Amino acid sequence: MSDEDLNRGLEGIRVAETRLSDIDGEAGVLTVGGFPVDELARNATYEESVFLLFEDRLPSADELAEFRADLAGRRAIGDEVRAVLQRAAEEEKPAMDALRMGAAAANLGAGEEDPEADARRVIAVFPTVVATYWRYREGDEPVEPREDLRHAANYLYMLNGEEPDEAAVRGLETYLNTVIDHGLNASTFTARTVVSTESDVVSAATAAVGTLKGPLHGGAPGPVLDMLRSIHESGDPEGYVHEKLEAGERLMGFGHRVYRVRDPRAAVLEAAASEFYDEAGDSDFFETITEFEDVAVEVLAEHKPGRDLETNVEFYTAALLDGVGVPKELFTTCFAVSRVGGWTAHALEQLDDNRLIRPLSSYVGDRDRSWTPVDER
Ligand code: CMC
Repeated sequence: MSDEDLNRGLEGIRVAETRLSDIDGEAGVLTVGGFPVDELARNATYEESVFLLFEDRLPSADELAEFRADLAGRRAIGDEVRAVLQRAAEEEKPAMDALRMGAAAANLGAGEEDPEADARRVIAVFPTVVATYWRYREGDEPVEPREDLRHAANYLYMLNGEEPDEAAVRGLETYLNTVIDHGLNASTFTARTVVSTESDVVSAATAAVGTLKGPLHGGAPGPVLDMLRSIHESGDPEGYVHEKLEAGERLMGFGHRVYRVRDPRAAVLEAAASEFYDEAGDSDFFETITEFEDVAVEVLAEHKPGRDLETNVEFYTAALLDGVGVPKELFTTCFAVSRVGGWTAHALEQLDDNRLIRPLSSYVGDRDRSWTPVDER
């Protein structure tokens, strides 16, 4: 194989057909399940988004009620799963490690049911695992899931121990719909690779959690929040940007590998955050955030002319999730709570028309070595 055939990051290589989502990075357009992302994100409940990805159509009212009840009935976890989450929390292990371990422990016996039942089970249990871990981290008792609440509402209820108001539920739901799927990103590719061996959907989802954990993927909404808070305190956005850039650092929440314009998810999340902060949040803080975006984009344009460094998904994720009551230590797990819908839909799509994913590598090692016995080395 020649060096020209080598493609280190698989950039520009198409390895699957999908009807789940499409990114136009030049125009800044994201389509999810056939809808422009803002149309879906603003209107759907999370359960409707998942149904859409699984079935390629919206559910009727009866189908939605059945689907919602089925997911809600799969939320509970057993004492043995709670025990591993308690241990992880007491040892202050990262939330993503707790999710990977808890989701696997809660789904022993994966592959025994049909793949879609596994997919429903893993989607249903993610919020319970994250919230249980967090309650232990905070020194509180876990809160049992409630079957009468929607997926997003129940997640906030299990995290905070009280029923959330509708503004917070709507804000979280818009977030969950916005990031549910995003082309063949690294964790989604992982999920498809796992089931391409005819392994099971739960293994695909837990492997994808491990992939999402990496800082080049799961991103940095936690650091974005720290940045926004410090600017809110100092009242000097311009000074902050100059200081960072002069120190050779990157501004968190700006720039993207695929988008050459503003990430369309930033617009959806900005609108959702604006609505939330108007109704129920600290509107001064939100004003700081939007002013900071304008200042930063202007300074970045002078700093990197022609590069169009605009806000990405992480910027308004931090504002919105913080507003609705998700602690910043859980931002990446919250991303997983949404994206597991996309991972499992891709796994089911892969299984429907499977071909083992098995690329090649270029060998650069020695050849024809001869063996030296250990006492002669
Ligand atoms: N702040 C300052 N300069 C930047 C930034 C930034 N946020 N992003 C890119 N640049 C500069 C970079 O220094 C480089 O300059 P030079 O050519 O002099 O080295 C130039 O722009 C091109 O950068 P690049 O590394 O080729 O850009 P990339 O497309 O590989 O990087 C990125 C994309 C997201 C890794 C990068 O923009 C970044 O590090 N952003 C900050 C971290 C962040 O917000 N991460 C969340 C990303 S959204 C994840 C998702 O969609 O899941």
